[in-house]
Amino acid sequence: MKGFLLVVGLVLVLTPSVFCWSKEGHMMTCKIAQDLLEPVADEAVRNLLPDYAKGDLSALCVWADQIRHWYKYRWTSSLHFIDTPDKACSFVYSRDCHDPKGQKDMCVAGAISNFTTQLLHYKHGTSDRRYNLTEALLFLSHFMGDVHQPMHVGFTSDEGGNTIQLHWYRHKSNLHHVWDREIILTALKDYYNNDVDTFQKDLVNNYTAGAWSDDVSTWRNCNDLLSCPTRYATESINLACKWGYDGISDGDTLSEEYFESRFPIVAKRIAQGGVRLAMFLNHIFGEHNSDIVAPT
Ligand SMILES: *[C@@H]1O[C@H](CO)[C@@H](O)[C@H](O)[C@H]1NC(C)=O
Ligand SMILES: *[C@@H]1O[C@H](CO)[C@@H](O)[C@H](O)[C@H]1NC(C)=O
Ligand SMILES: *[C@@H]1O[C@H](CO)[C@@H](O)[C@H](O)[C@H]1NC(C)=O
Repeated sequence: MKGFLLVVGLVLVLTPSVFCWSKEGHMMTCKIAQDLLEPVADEAVRNLLPDYAKGDLSALCVWADQIRHWYKYRWTSSLHFIDTPDKACSFVYSRDCHDPKGQKDMCVAGAISNFTTQLLHYKHGTSDRRYNLTEALLFLSHFMGDVHQPMHVGFTSDEGGNTIQLHWYRHKSNLHHVWDREIILTALKDYYNNDVDTFQKDLVNNYTAGAWSDDVSTWRNCNDLLSCPTRYATESINLACKWGYDGISDGDTLSEEYFESRFPIVAKRIAQGGVRLAMFLNHIFGEHNSDIVAPT
């Protein structure tokens, strides 16, 4: 029995978590966002962060992945992704946003709206005691990253590519994991000397002065915070179909060609997640959101 528990324990420790942008992806999204906060939002975020984060949101951007297997937080596990019908290549909120038991709104798009709604009460001081706004901030920050990872809005039968086994260069991986981590880690190694800060600076440079600087204002377009996550999820399933699944079968080996053509997409999604998280937080905590009504 002891041996069995030890093995189970080791498996739990050693199994890479299956559903998440890598730690690095989430941290870059949150760093980009925090750097774009206006003073009022910046102060609110610092107030909500626990002391041990020392004011750094990115330090807790993977918190939602760390707690998802704890008993108390089991209800959050379906909030990291969306399963859409195989090959449909579309996201329809009323059809797809639910957990495996069919409970409505329990998907990443619903979660972003949920925690946005909770946080909108912060500045009015009308927060419901049931809601922990520190947790709402950490969930929102994490799920804004996840909804931008194309394979987090994937097909149902392959669990967003998790059951599509393949090789990434010489080691075993799966299609979901390629998009969560492999592409990011290969880029870090090949282009950035394994330095996340350099990677992040390159992203920032590309939306301030470089290739995306003309697009970045359209990334921020959002008339209604509570429905924009549906648009982000739709973008993701479209990218998943066009760039993730296309031409892939079980047992393939992916290497340079896949990496070089997909890296720009991964990079852009990390940056978009960061820019949009900042836009959300600036609206949620800022003074200029009279057009956005906090639902009760
Ligand atoms: C919204 O958050 C509350 C807890 O703060 C939770 O009980 C509820 O299930 C969440 N719903 C969604 C769609 O995230
Ligand atoms: C809110 O959640 C954070 C993170 O789980 C926790 O450390 C803190 O104690 C909670 N606050 C309250 C008032 O329960
Ligand atoms: C930034 O843009 C340059 C030029 O288009 C490109 O080579 C580089 O890979 C981009 N970096 C990121 C992180 O997007």
